[in-house]
Amino acid sequence: MKLYLDTANVGEIREMAWLIDGVTTNPTLLSREKRPAAEVLREICGIVPGPVSAEVTALDAEGMVREARELAKVADNVVVKIPITAEGLRAVQALSKEGIRTNVTLVFSANQALLAAKCGASYVSPFVGRVDDAGGDGMSVVAEILTIFRNYGFPTELIVASVRHPGHVVAAATLGAPIATVPYEVLKKLFVHPLTDAGIARFLKDWQQVPKG
Ligand code: G3P
Repeated sequence: MKLYLDTANVGEIREMAWLIDGVTTNPTLLSREKRPAAEVLREICGIVPGPVSAEVTALDAEGMVREARELAKVADNVVVKIPITAEGLRAVQALSKEGIRTNVTLVFSANQALLAAKCGASYVSPFVGRVDDAGGDGMSVVAEILTIFRNYGFPTELIVASVRHPGHVVAAATLGAPIATVPYEVLKKLFVHPLTDAGIARFLKDWQQVPKG
């Protein structure tokens, strides 16, 4: 399973670069950096060799394609995030023909993911946390999408997004999701367990009692 970092913060990315397989950003994450987005994106692409998602803000297909071409020029590993709308899917179709990779975002249903895959999306990002927030079950949506992609052999890869806690990562991995994109604070929690800390403390204490030769 691949783990991406869901952030636009270069410090967080540098710290986790040895572990992560890619990065996803969005306009909200970039707004926190208080720097020009293109500058931040270029820096991230220089740190992480894997896919780095950056989102368009146009709402019409032509505008999205124009923005996507500019984003794709920033670095070879840029993947263009496109929201799932009819206009978005028209842009995805066009970009797929040009060989520009896309990540269809703001996916909340299996049907949206099916359409994205049919239009040639490289990735789809179901937002599990936001589905849960709205009283649904985000992981059921992920399970449905995985089944649909398997049924038809779609090459589109699923990125579990809007991950809020370590339980989401376990659920994603148990379902066999190929990728989860995880915020920095959640990624740090994956390393730790109180029994690990207690175990290390106990071993160090006991080691002091071992006669040194
Ligand atoms: O990758 C999408 C993600 O950034 C959205 O997360 O927590 O804003 O729903 P959240």
